[in-house]
Amino acid sequence: MDCQKGIKLYERAKKIIPGGTQLLSKRPEMYLPGLWPSYYSKAKGCEVWDLDGNHYYDFAQMGVGTCVLGYADDDVNNAVVRAISDGSMCSLNCAEEVELAEKLIALHPWAGMARFARTGGEVCAIAIRIARAYSKKDKIAFCGYHGWHDWYLSANLGDSSNLDGQLLPGLMPLGVPRGLKDSIFPFGYNKLNELEDIITKHGKDIGVIMMEPQRAVAPEPGFLEGVRKLATKIGAVLIFDEVTSGFKMNLGGIHLILGVEPDIAVFAKALGNGFPISAVIGRKEVMASAGDSFISSAFWTERIGFVAALATLKKMEKNKTQASLVRFGELINKGWKDIAQKHGIPIQINGIPPLTSLTFKTEHPLEVQTFYTQEMLAKGYLLGAAVYTTAAYTDSIIAKFISDSDPVFSEIKESIKSGGIKSRLKGECKHSGFKRLV
Ligand SMILES: Cc1ncc(COP(=O)(O)O)c(C=O)c1O
Repeated sequence: MDCQKGIKLYERAKKIIPGGTQLLSKRPEMYLPGLWPSYYSKAKGCEVWDLDGNHYYDFAQMGVGTCVLGYADDDVNNAVVRAISDGSMCSLNCAEEVELAEKLIALHPWAGMARFARTGGEVCAIAIRIARAYSKKDKIAFCGYHGWHDWYLSANLGDSSNLDGQLLPGLMPLGVPRGLKDSIFPFGYNKLNELEDIITKHGKDIGVIMMEPQRAVAPEPGFLEGVRKLATKIGAVLIFDEVTSGFKMNLGGIHLILGVEPDIAVFAKALGNGFPISAVIGRKEVMASAGDSFISSAFWTERIGFVAALATLKKMEKNKTQASLVRFGELINKGWKDIAQKHGIPIQINGIPPLTSLTFKTEHPLEVQTFYTQEMLAKGYLLGAAVYTTAAYTDSIIAKFISDSDPVFSEIKESIKSGGIKSRLKGECKHSGFKRLV
């Protein structure tokens, strides 16, 4: 696969864009350092064309979990094009903002109000501001990844390994004011005792508990209920971060399935099928604090995000998209399990089916993962450690993905037997977390 144009462009990018790109998960180093196509010219459905004209099926991240309906979905695009023709920005507000608020509240009957922004990190920061304003307490107990903002990275001002168990290892708090030290404390998922310890130590000062209701593993019985109970007991606002989990298993937050209601929930990724739109919804009395705090931004009012979200929700509802996302994820999992068993390779599959991740339980798992990516790229697939499914997949595309993976698993098995896979890598091993690019 000759993808030199993209490789060369990324080399230019790294000289003038610190970090190479705006998103860690889109760095080529996270897939195949020095060999990844890096840039696209066109994306449609689950297909991608790079700058050299090569064609791929996307089993990487489908736009980092945003494009659940598929890239450049015709219905969403048509709604957006109409909004652009009629003016996507104006001195007056757009009516779709109110319509989207009503829709999200209708889907989550416990919530009474909504605010909007454009990215996941933004709505996490907004939710934290509202929660602190409501509880009148600064300290936060948290679990999981919640974006790049100061409030979150300040966890590493206390102990630089605080964020290591929270999805993205190696995040440095450089540039985060030291005054935020000891304002935010981590607990592990399914580790209610760790949250209890934080509360014993800082109980009366904890105003916010922030977590994803579910990510890599399912909640153990009583865990989420226990968190809810503790939050209520100490008067903390419970925020569920559904930036990634929302609209994947069901039409709305995954907490609707799990049966535990937060005080605030935040959504982003899938909400606009790739167009920037994010939402904070919450109980009326909690959200009302947003009226007392200054939370305001010009581009949070532009029309495209609201229009895209309404068109996306309409299509998801009509097509029962989430059922497809789950079914395709289950098909991929079954395929991986079958070929792993056939070749005797120990693997572990984590996550909800629409966001499924594969770990090789072998020696040097990162090298094995890099090799799998390298070989699948040559066969026309973009592939990382996790697959975010899309309704644009078909059974036959998934069947081909698995049958094309089969000989690669065979080679993996062979190389394990013959003492290592490193010599089969054409470049460096991929990165697994945040690293400074040199
Ligand atoms: C759970 C969660 N919260 C927050 C974020 C940050 O969202 P964004 O990258 O849109 O700022 C992410 C991104 O992956 C996420 O998965």
